Amino acid sequence: MESTIGRAPRTATAGRVVAHRGASRVAPENTLAAFRAAAGQGAEWIEFDVSLLGDGTPVIHHDAGFERCTNRTGRLAHASAGDLAGIDAGVRFGDAYRGEPVPTLAATLDLIEALGLSANLEMKAHGDEEEALAGAVAEALARRPWAEARVLVSSFAHATLRHLRARRPRQPVAVLWERLPAGWLETVRALDAASVHLDWRRLRPGALAELRGHGIEVRVYTINDPGRVAGLRDGGLTGVITDHPPLFLERADWAAWAAEPR
Ligand code: G3P
Ligand code: MG
Repeated sequence: MESTIGRAPRTATAGRVVAHRGASRVAPENTLAAFRAAAGQGAEWIEFDVSLLGDGTPVIHHDAGFERCTNRTGRLAHASAGDLAGIDAGVRFGDAYRGEPVPTLAATLDLIEALGLSANLEMKAHGDEEEALAGAVAEALARRPWAEARVLVSSFAHATLRHLRARRPRQPVAVLWERLPAGWLETVRALDAASVHLDWRRLRPGALAELRGHGIEVRVYTINDPGRVAGLRDGGLTGVITDHPPLFLERADWAAWAAEPR
């Protein structure tokens, strides 16, 4: 059956070396400091997680609760934008980052634009907020004409991707799975997704070849050991999502791969 992938003239999706939660080895994950650090390391792409506060404000945060990454406890669903001023997302990482805020999506997109970065925006639905989350993301992207070319939206919550797709017909989308499930091609086609993102430990060379044969971009997360995915790279892998981009960018073989067009 002929692939429908790429039938829309979409512009570029994600790059090859993507900084996971920003440069999260050297700076607190999912903060503006981590995104600046990624740019400083030479990464052209960052990945970050978007969650909703209880008042519907989209913020950059991985978990449903604040405790792992900030000086606060409690659930994001019980917080509102007015609470952000008192929440420190840097101090648990180190004193040098004391006072680093939980960024809003708006502030993050402004920084991405200013730094000339591109992004893999991962939508994190922690409850039944799939539609609200997609709506908030779509609204933020709609205000930025560059976002269609420079933001690749992904999610494990495929309902969230469906809602996003309904609002943003031309936005590049990536489907997230841990491992490729039966029926994956139907899901990719239904979402008109350009990409699939998988756990690097669960991707077999045959599956990679099949995905690439359909013209689908394939990235793996979260890989901090280049040697473990060199075979996948040689098998046509599109990109890696890593906590520490220099692991890849400072090696000649990977740097050459990173400079290749997709
Ligand atoms: O988007 C790739 C990766 O970030 C998915 O897993 O849990 O780190 O958001 P997680
Ligand atoms: Mg993520």
